[in-house]
Parts: sequence; structure tokens; C-alpha cells
Amino acid sequence: MRIIAILNQKGGSGKTTTAVNLGAALAQLGQKVLLIDVDPQAHATIHLGVRPSDLSTTLYDVLTNEQPAEQTILPTLVDGLDLLPSHIDLSGAEIELVNMVGRENILKEVLKGVRRNYDFIFLDCPPSLGLLTVNALNAAQEVFIPIQTEFFALEGMSKLLHTIEIVKHRLNPRLKITGIILTMFDRRKNICKDVAEKVEEYFRGKVFQVKIRENVRLAEAPSYGQPITLYAPSSPGSQDYQLLAQEVLAHGEKNRIRR
Ligand SMILES: Nc1ncnc2c1ncn2[C@@H]1O[C@H](COP(=O)(O)OP(=O)(O)O)[C@@H](O)[C@H]1O
Ligand SMILES: [Mg+2]
Repeated sequence: MRIIAILNQKGGSGKTTTAVNLGAALAQLGQKVLLIDVDPQAHATIHLGVRPSDLSTTLYDVLTNEQPAEQTILPTLVDGLDLLPSHIDLSGAEIELVNMVGRENILKEVLKGVRRNYDFIFLDCPPSLGLLTVNALNAAQEVFIPIQTEFFALEGMSKLLHTIEIVKHRLNPRLKITGIILTMFDRRKNICKDVAEKVEEYFRGKVFQVKIRENVRLAEAPSYGQPITLYAPSSPGSQDYQLLAQEVLAHGEKNRIRR
């Protein structure tokens, strides 16, 4: 089983789009997937057609009130894809957790109780490097970094890598960056080709071969409360996330053999 944090402190880099659609694509390949929405903005929750205000418990209660995760996890429209939903209250959790003993370990402890039910757990991180993100990095084994293929792609990257190094050093020695995902790629634009080359140079050997093309269907899907594989199954965005899911599976298999 793999626990993967999807992280980039830059907003709009494609974290949520990747968490939802890669999760759905893997579930449709027969994997059992849990998506944990660690962002108080709850975009992944809403993308999967769930209204946070309708919920009696969310990740906020699981982290701050010892509410059992099993009772908060919801099935989604996709067979095999479950969701641990978020709520705007979670933005207060960052402050509430500060004085708790073992505050960096809370999410990790929560996962111990549910991980056996899944092949993949994805953590959709907020666009910041605060305590929620540190909890996600401590609970994860791997990090995927989605990067928008634009001029400022690598700006802020050293800060992000530094944070990952600190968590690795102090809390979670097994944590590894295992995949860079180029998002919103447009092959007609020279800038996109240049940026893709730069990112490949910076993260030698870690960039997934599948690039997620810019596709308006991916931007529309959240407002229909469906992952792309249901909303527009044959769109370029759906094809790309299905290919990425296959690459993620193959990649895991390769690493397993190497271990
Ligand atoms: N490949 C893509 N093509 C077109 N729009 C995209 C694509 N990926 C993401 N978007 C849109 O860009 C915005 C930011 O993406 P999102 O996944 O929410 O980023 P993050 O979670 O990193 O803030 C959203 O409106 C989303 O629908
Ligand atoms: Mg997001």
C-alpha cells in the first residue's frame, strides 16, 4: 500500500485536480483508493460532489476531537474511491493543534486504523507549509509534486524541498519525492517545452512521462461534482489521468522489485 502526499505550496498548480482524477483513474483500474482532503478550502470534497456544510463530521473532527475516521469516510460516485472530507473549520485546526502533544503525528495515527483497507491513500495538501502539511508529510511515504508548466514553475521550489528535507530528517526518514507531474501542458507553446526541459533537468529521472495537458473539461468537472473519468471520459484530460494512473502503478511495481 502507498501513502502519497500531493504537495506544492503554490495554489493553482493542479494538486486537487490530480488528487481527484488520478485517484478516480486508479480506482477504475481496480485499486482501493482513499482521498484525504487536507485543505480547509475543501476543493477535493466539492469536486467529488460532497457539500461540506451537509456533513456532520469531517477531517476537522477526526484531527481535533478523536472522531473515528471510519465513521467519517464516505464512498463516492466511483467504485473503489473513498473520501475523507474537509471543511473550512479545518483552517482553525492548525491553531488548535499547536499546543497538542505529538501534534505532527495526529494524521499518521489516524491512518494506522484505516490503511489496511486501501492500496493507495492520497493526501491533497493545502497551499501552505503549515502544520496540516507537516502532518501530511509525516503520514506519507511518498510525495508527488504537480507543477504548472509556466514561466514561474520552479519559483519557491527550494523552500518546498527544504520543508520536505526537514520533515524527513526530524520525523519521517522514509519520505521520498517519487514523482513530479507537469500539469496544464500545451505542446503548441514554446514556453511549455522550455519549462518542461528545465523541470526535467532539475528533477532528473523523477518527472512522470505523462504530462497533463491543459484541457477545459478538467476545469469544468468540479462544478459537476464528478471526476473527469465520469464527466468527460474520452476528453484529453481523462486520457492523460488514465495514462498517469498506469504509469504510477508501473512505477510502484518497479520500485517494489528494486526493494
Ligand atoms: N490540466 C488542466 N487543464 C485546465 N485546467 C486545469 C488543469 N488542471 C487544473 N486546472 C484548473 O486550474 C485551477 C487550479 O487547479 P487545482 O487543481 O485546484 O490546483 P491546486 O489544488 O494546486 O490549487 C482549477 O480551476 C482547475 O480546474
Ligand atoms: Mg487544491
